[in-house]
Amino acid sequence: MDLAALLDRIADDVAPEVGRGAVADYIPALARVRPGFGIAVADVDGGVHGAGDWLRPFSVQSMSKVFTLALVLARGDDVWTRVGREPSGDPFNSLVQLEHEDGIPRNPFINAGALVVTDELTCHGDAVGALLSFLRAESGHADIDVDAEVAASEAGHADRNRALAYFMASYGNMRNPVPSVLDQYVRQCSIAMSCRDVARSALFLARHGIRNDGTRLLGLSSAKRINAVMLTCGTYDAAGEFAYRVGLPGKSGVGGGIVAIVPGRCAVCVWSPGLDARGNSVAGVAALDRFTTLTGWSVF
Ligand code: DON
Repeated sequence: MDLAALLDRIADDVAPEVGRGAVADYIPALARVRPGFGIAVADVDGGVHGAGDWLRPFSVQSMSKVFTLALVLARGDDVWTRVGREPSGDPFNSLVQLEHEDGIPRNPFINAGALVVTDELTCHGDAVGALLSFLRAESGHADIDVDAEVAASEAGHADRNRALAYFMASYGNMRNPVPSVLDQYVRQCSIAMSCRDVARSALFLARHGIRNDGTRLLGLSSAKRINAVMLTCGTYDAAGEFAYRVGLPGKSGVGGGIVAIVPGRCAVCVWSPGLDARGNSVAGVAALDRFTTLTGWSVF
């Protein structure tokens, strides 16, 4: 298959969707992002193809949650005593289930669950430092970093996440002081990366746990579990619709990125900042929908 031509075709097909939806404005720095569209595919043999703005860095936001979960599982921590693995059916920043469920978030991809994962990683030291060194090694780009402007903007508008973290602390489900967990979480979300770099960095999930240098990050079962939780929970209260349209494990971010995995074959990252009502990129979902339709590469 001529992947480069295929990605150009997808970029053309979804052009009418680019600019649709609304940019995330609860983090003011994200509201200033220019429209655009990018798509990159990294295959398990090392090839990378892209179209559109595939080399333009954007804010990874919740896509970072996949990588922090992987790093926690790689350390052998049993994080599943602190966070569940069921879809929430509620918005990504919802508080409601925590009170009825003893401060244990439904899954590691809603904000509450991601805060628990970041807290767990913080028990081992500098969580963002560990995350950056992983992303730099996998992408081959040593200049990947936190966007300080986005981080400051999010830190100034983080009352919902602060509330989630303190609420979980009241149930004994925070190991570190909330301000330091929040600082790590906000900075991990503010990392800027291109579609190319995200796709390369997520390849370990297509390779059943093997990193780009051939070493093993995760066992087969942990890699399978992350993919499974991405499929069921990675796009929040739209996870059913995403599985129906795309049929791949995927994780979105309010920066407009979505990373999706074709196990055994490739990792795909799309970006376009206009979001639907559930916080998922409109053109990004459309592009992944076209990708699995045209290639037949879904997990089903
Ligand atoms: O915590 C937040 O609200 C953001 N840093 C991340 C949210 C996000 O990306 C949700 N994804 N669609």
